[in-house]
Amino acid sequence: MNFFIETIGCQMNVNDSEKIALFLLEHGCCSVDNIEQADIVILNTCSVRFSAEHKAYSFLGRVKEYKQQNPDMIVAVVGCMAQYAYKEIKQRFDFVNFVLGAKHIDEFSKYISKYIDISSSSDITIQNKENQFFKFVTIMRGCQNFCSYCIVPYVRGPEISLDFEDIINEINNLVQNGVKEVTLLGQNVNSYKNKEVNFTNLLQKISAETDIENIRFMTNHPKDLSDDLIDEISNNSKICKHIHLPLQSGSDNILKNMNRKYTYDHYRNLVDKIRNKIPDINITTDIIVGFPGETDNDFDKTFQAIKQIKFGGIFGFKYSPRPKTLAYKLQDDVSETVKKQRLAILLEESNKISKQLNGNYIGKTADILVENFSNDTADGRNSQNIKIFFKYSKNIVGQKVKVKITKALANSMTGEIIV
Ligand code: 5AD
Ligand code: SF4
Repeated sequence: MNFFIETIGCQMNVNDSEKIALFLLEHGCCSVDNIEQADIVILNTCSVRFSAEHKAYSFLGRVKEYKQQNPDMIVAVVGCMAQYAYKEIKQRFDFVNFVLGAKHIDEFSKYISKYIDISSSSDITIQNKENQFFKFVTIMRGCQNFCSYCIVPYVRGPEISLDFEDIINEINNLVQNGVKEVTLLGQNVNSYKNKEVNFTNLLQKISAETDIENIRFMTNHPKDLSDDLIDEISNNSKICKHIHLPLQSGSDNILKNMNRKYTYDHYRNLVDKIRNKIPDINITTDIIVGFPGETDNDFDKTFQAIKQIKFGGIFGFKYSPRPKTLAYKLQDDVSETVKKQRLAILLEESNKISKQLNGNYIGKTADILVENFSNDTADGRNSQNIKIFFKYSKNIVGQKVKVKITKALANSMTGEIIV
């Protein structure tokens, strides 16, 4: 049977979709690139913003037409939106065979087995060639921070740290299969705690007990990034020098209403401490504009914060009211036009800053693991997570190379291979 998976949302979903794909491949199914050829269509959903839900609904609208042509097609909706909009999906799209929420994603095999025969298993594990050197490893599920705008704690449930021994085993297996870099995933990795192992200990264990070459991780919460963790990132050469540290707003008033549990001063001091201990660190962030009650003055504080801190990059979002959250009760009083304007102002400034920062790398060399190759151009990321493109005549995906940086753009750099 042929399957097609559409994934919307964060890396956690990408990782879950990969696991589902692997399961289906191991049970004799084949992956296809378009819905027309598929017997099984799986939609992995996100509910963090309304736009992600809209995407899912329009995808299902398209699937409906294919299902009319091929009534035997099996359609499954999984992930965050499947968790909280279960009833609506079932009602509006009655052709969907099953809806499986993010909290129960591990039960996918049980659900799909009602529709396909999974008793036979194939020995051939087909790996996606481009990805076999780089893998996501989920180390935590859920979140209990209850930032007032965020639906994640409601759809993914409370924070659970996965067993550290299972994580080490998983990484050892990946290494045996050729993987060279892992990205540890969780909504809040720095609060990882399993038995007596905290996130810093986990990083130490992964470095000592596996042969993985590069370790990346995301995402972090500024309220619990410990000194020990900063020291570990600084001292451990396997850990890439990049921290994604969502600020969300530069205004203390808004931070308080967002229930972020820190002030802008706390955040700034933390950034100073990180940069003092790890001078070559790249710090990136998330910002929400147009949170309820955000005045021009609040927004200006965010704008000044961006100028002051000089992030390597920002992910900017327009506030989107989410049912169930605390902020949903507040009036969404910043107009769409103002949200758009504020976002554009931030991104313009941030691009200017990251281009300047990237300029500091010109003439320097970077060690990179090559990730992609097409049409004589290869690319990979440096330790700081900045994409670097360079010309090369053959496919060297998965190899470590030295590249001299020649040009800096806002979101990437170009260079020349020297080894
Ligand atoms: N509206 C807009 N952005 C949001 N995020 C989370 N919830 C919302 C929302 N309701 C953003 C935050 C978070 C990132 C993953 O998504 O910035 O860090
Ligand atoms: Fe959402 Fe806040 Fe948890 Fe991040 S830390 S997932 S923004 S509730």
